[in-house]
Amino acid sequence: MAPLPPPSPEAPLLGPAAAVPESPLVVITGASSGLGQALALRFYHAGYRLALVARRVSEIERWARASQIDITRYQIYSADVSDANAMVVMGNTCLQAQGVPDVVIANAGISVGVDTACRTDIDVMARVFTTNNIGMMATFHPFVAAMAARAVTGSGGTLVGIGSVAGIRGLPGHGAYSASKAAAITYLESLRGEMKPLGVRVVTVCPGYIDTPLTQKNRYTMPFLMQPKDFAEKAFQAIVTGASYSVIPWQMGVVAKLMRLLPNALYDKLLAGRPRKHRDGEGWAEGG
Ligand SMILES: NC(=O)c1ccc[n+]([C@@H]2O[C@H](COP(=O)([O-])OP(=O)(O)OC[C@H]3O[C@@H](n4cnc5c(N)ncnc54)[C@H](OP(=O)(O)O)[C@@H]3O)[C@@H](O)[C@H]2O)c1
Repeated sequence: MAPLPPPSPEAPLLGPAAAVPESPLVVITGASSGLGQALALRFYHAGYRLALVARRVSEIERWARASQIDITRYQIYSADVSDANAMVVMGNTCLQAQGVPDVVIANAGISVGVDTACRTDIDVMARVFTTNNIGMMATFHPFVAAMAARAVTGSGGTLVGIGSVAGIRGLPGHGAYSASKAAAITYLESLRGEMKPLGVRVVTVCPGYIDTPLTQKNRYTMPFLMQPKDFAEKAFQAIVTGASYSVIPWQMGVVAKLMRLLPNALYDKLLAGRPRKHRDGEGWAEGG
């Protein structure tokens, strides 16, 4: 087992010394809440070691203790996905401490409404793109070379990006998030083609509405709302069974396909008057 480096201020290692070398490793960003925690628990129960990334590391610690996660099977990394340099430090520290991951899940994301008439919302748009898009690439970047190298003699592993059904078509008031998720879906498709010859799989997972802090403040109806545990089960199956693209729950997959077919006039009419996502400054914190 590689010796643990000393904790660094950029990406402090807060977990106990790892690890069981032969058990697979999953890296998950956004592990301090919602889908990240649910995915972590599902992979943990499948025997994986966990590399858990977020800014609120105390939340991860609290969750790990409450979930009775074996202290030899996880490490926590404090990093902001929108800070590419911090993500490189996180990735290198993880590679050294826990080895080459089998699965990397770029899950961290934020969802904030925007109004193009408001100057401050330009900054919100930038923050959403930086977190949801730059953050996704920055999550994969530190691991791709090592995963491709391992693919020469064994399994390269899997990169997973969390998109959204909101990325299929633009939702009024939700332009930053919808656009960021559309970009994420397209980026993942490009990456899939790039990584395939290198022996690394890429999986796009598009959640519909899942009951997490990100959606709990929504003021509109959320069809087919799903619990995070149920989402994690379906996502786990999609990731390990080799799907390249999965919408969860499946009913939202049907809705997404129909949305793509609707002519603009009908689509606009259906969404007219729909309550909008909360913007910053409306008395709500950002999602995530
Ligand atoms: N819930 C849904 O219905 C739904 C639907 C479609 C897609 N999604 C996507 O699923 C993912 C997870 O969402 P969720 O519902 O679990 O939301 P959540 O409960 O609000 O959790 C968001 C997570 O992202 C992390 N995060 C946000 N900004 C970050 C940053 N700059 N650096 C590092 N971590 C950051 C947060 O950690 P810290 O704040 O501690 O850093 C938190 O752990 C997101 O990409 C979201 O867009 C969710």
